[in-house]
Amino acid sequence: MTDQHGTTAVLTGPANGMPTQWWRTAVIYQIYVRSFADADSDGIGDLAGVRGKLDYLAELGVDAVWLTPFYVSPMVDGGYDVADYRAVDPIFGDLDDAKGLIGDAHERGLRVIVDIVPNHTSSAHRWFREAVAAPAGSPARERYLLRDGKGGGGGVAPNDWESVFGGPAWTRVTEPDGTAGQWYLHLFDPEQPDLNWENPEVHAEFEDILRFWLDLGVDGFRIDVAHGMVKAEGLPDTGTIDQIALLGSAELPYFDQDGVHEIYRRWRGILDSYPGERIGVAEAWAPDADRLAHYLRPDELHQAFNFHYVQTDWSAADLRSVIDASLESAGRVGAPSTWVLSNHDLARHVTRYGDGEVGLRRARAAALLNLALPGSVYVYQGEELGLPEVTDLPDEAIADPRWERSGRTERGRDGCRVPIPWSGESAPFGFSTDASASPWLPQPDRWAGLSVAAQQDDPSSILSLYRDALRLRAELDELKTAPLHWFSEPGAQVLMFGRGDRFTCAVNFGPDPVELDVTGDVLLASDPRLRSHGGRGSVTLPADTAMWWRVTEGA
Ligand code: NOJ
Repeated sequence: MTDQHGTTAVLTGPANGMPTQWWRTAVIYQIYVRSFADADSDGIGDLAGVRGKLDYLAELGVDAVWLTPFYVSPMVDGGYDVADYRAVDPIFGDLDDAKGLIGDAHERGLRVIVDIVPNHTSSAHRWFREAVAAPAGSPARERYLLRDGKGGGGGVAPNDWESVFGGPAWTRVTEPDGTAGQWYLHLFDPEQPDLNWENPEVHAEFEDILRFWLDLGVDGFRIDVAHGMVKAEGLPDTGTIDQIALLGSAELPYFDQDGVHEIYRRWRGILDSYPGERIGVAEAWAPDADRLAHYLRPDELHQAFNFHYVQTDWSAADLRSVIDASLESAGRVGAPSTWVLSNHDLARHVTRYGDGEVGLRRARAAALLNLALPGSVYVYQGEELGLPEVTDLPDEAIADPRWERSGRTERGRDGCRVPIPWSGESAPFGFSTDASASPWLPQPDRWAGLSVAAQQDDPSSILSLYRDALRLRAELDELKTAPLHWFSEPGAQVLMFGRGDRFTCAVNFGPDPVELDVTGDVLLASDPRLRSHGGRGSVTLPADTAMWWRVTEGA
């Protein structure tokens, strides 16, 4: 079935019209479009490139993809500076490519989630151009947060807020007559002015943008800076410096304000007015699990990334407490937890967990932990290949605005955005179709052994581990429905839990190997040498290793 845009109809629930609640247990693969696959060999990934890799994703066994912004943008912040929310940037393709991608994905049973960036626009957006060209107090300025400065002549920023990328969150406008004028707020780069969500016109515009993409068949939105749109009344000072260090752990007058939830109630109404259970997932940094759960109330969003989990080190005790707190808080509002190990803003977890062989061992074990927990899971492109963070990018290659804004003291997030190695012995490793193309960030030569082609047919590769785990997760009903119950004691170096009566997962965080009495068949282990155990007996689980087994009948 196609609609007026020529797009294949969205995936709907079962024929009886009952909701599938697909999002409660879905595995969603994050595609950082710029770095996934480059079909036109300009060194930058594009929508046609993604389209060409859908079979790979369907075979991997994920349920959906989330595409990072591909809209018209000056690309100051990798496309999170949007100049036109309804058009595709030419470096990524055009609207027909987007429609084709949505249709092809749906044909393979994959849902498609797109990014929406409502906290700020690009400074190249028509609205911002109009705002700075218009006089203070005019309706065009009311779409953003422009304020007079303090001090004689208004030369001091209106308050002490800091930009997430470093430096003050305010920049002074040069008025059309050439004089220094008002200041505008930008919680991120100066090229990303914050919108004024007190203005009904801003609400109307974003509701229309949601409908535009929903009409094209997308299955949902990942909401950028979902905790940021509403600011505390009067824009009060924080009274602190180094505010960014407080992100996600303390209250700030520009993040996680109660008023933001009103917006999601309206958006939920729009999502629910379309067939096929369209969803909203919040990129929300909240001080604790309970505050995060507010975004997941039944009339708000469906999912929120669990950043407290991402920020936890490789420690049985710490992970257990964050798992318990997350399940409890989300459970209280009837929502799933949403587990994440990596994304395009964070150092890749192979490296966070120790890098090298240890990091990879732990990343393999973490994959089995993650995929055995109740809820939904996001997989960041390349995590299924065990890619580490690239920590030695040359200075001149760095594109992340954080690098310049921090006075070149913070290298930023490019190390997790290096283009994917698909095949071959040298760069571009099949990322660009033309072997002579130069990817926008250089890929290390040492990645040859990590490419998809190198791992594809190796049953002991991490790629095979992800495929096996995803297949089992789809087959085992208890992994969708049964709650988690702990077998291990708090404080133990092993986390061991069951889902239902017959599924058990154990993860040994080390440092020592442990003997486990296992009655059943090993379904999967992060160390391939353990996979052959069956029946009753003791199994030695090495450090930094996870195992799934099926408890056999009558055991
Ligand atoms: C969060 C996005 O994930 C990040 O990449 C971006 O820089 C900021 N929001 C600002 O949009």
